Amino acid sequence: MAWKTMDDVALAGKTVLTRVDINVPMEGDKVTDTTRIDKIKPTVEDIIARGGKVVLLAHFGRPKGKIVPEMSLRHVQPALEASLGRKVVFVERPDRAMIDALPSDAVVLVENTRFTDMEEANDPRMAQFLASMGDMFCNDAFSAAHRAHASTEGIAHLLPSFAGRLMEEELRALEAALGTPQRPVVAVVGGAKVSTKLELLGNLVTKVDHLVIGGGMANTFLVAQGVEVGKSLAERDMGPMALDILAKAKAAGCTIHLPVDIVVAREFKAGAASEVLPVAACPADAMILDAGPATVTELTRVFEACKTLIWNGPLGAFEITPFDAATTAAAQVAAHLTREGKLISVAGGGDTVSALHQAGAAGDFTFISTAGGAFLEWMEGKILPGVAALGG
Ligand code: 3PG
Repeated sequence: MAWKTMDDVALAGKTVLTRVDINVPMEGDKVTDTTRIDKIKPTVEDIIARGGKVVLLAHFGRPKGKIVPEMSLRHVQPALEASLGRKVVFVERPDRAMIDALPSDAVVLVENTRFTDMEEANDPRMAQFLASMGDMFCNDAFSAAHRAHASTEGIAHLLPSFAGRLMEEELRALEAALGTPQRPVVAVVGGAKVSTKLELLGNLVTKVDHLVIGGGMANTFLVAQGVEVGKSLAERDMGPMALDILAKAKAAGCTIHLPVDIVVAREFKAGAASEVLPVAACPADAMILDAGPATVTELTRVFEACKTLIWNGPLGAFEITPFDAATTAAAQVAAHLTREGKLISVAGGGDTVSALHQAGAAGDFTFISTAGGAFLEWMEGKILPGVAALGG
């Protein structure tokens, strides 16, 4: 790998501008999930242990270049202090003299980088200003690496730069899952729409041995093959694209797995009366809300035959019971095989991660990415500007 890690750099006496992603879910001014905050701790601790001073750069929400008080990183500061077990000095406008005057083990948190439109424009003046606050740049924000912004990309060209521990962990896990994986590899892709995942499917069929398609997007593939899906969510105009993906998969030797049985209901609500039917038997007035048990049995066989699994997107309407059943069952199979040392399992994306947590399976996965959009773009085979700027 071309990028430098923390092991390749000397940090003593250096001020390290450290790009992190602490774009965490909040209710009012309380953080409801601290995962992203907790995950930056190894990098922060490592920099301090090696005599460096940490200045955290981060965005929060999408304020579109305006100062939006509810999106101030000041609201995240208490959760950050609790997680790091250290004092965090919050600064609205960083100033080099002020940073230099702080003790070396102080952690500085700079206000939301997106409060100026120069950030998203990757304006060289902003990158220059940020770079003047420190001596080195550490990018630990894999989940923001798909953005070519001043604090993720521009700055990396101005200072000696390296990947933080979390960035390194994410890149190594993804490389192991899709770059140079142990084969056979199975990818599970679910979610509502084929149109948002066309590039992803197109890339995956050339890289994996098995591709499981679930959720609403499976319906689009069924319709394209002439299977009626009643009132189910399906993008009927995407038929040619779906057939194209099937043909591409065949040419590449990738086996596509669509549901063989379905769970249908007449209402989209928790506890709605439902029945399990063969895939081609969806009544005209019903909608498919989950894959059925025979599909789970087939997926279990596929998972058992594979050495690597990469997962993005639920198999059904997992947010309402009982339509979470296939996602939960498949997640538990993957967790079990991983625990037994038979499968390397990597997952990413907000919905996927909540579904795996809901299934009690997340803790057993080999790696759960902190990224949403960046994970998807990486799976699509795109170059992430924040990673490329590190030289990787
Ligand atoms: C995320 O939450 O996925 C990252 O923080 C990136 O946020 P963005 O989609 O607003 O750039």
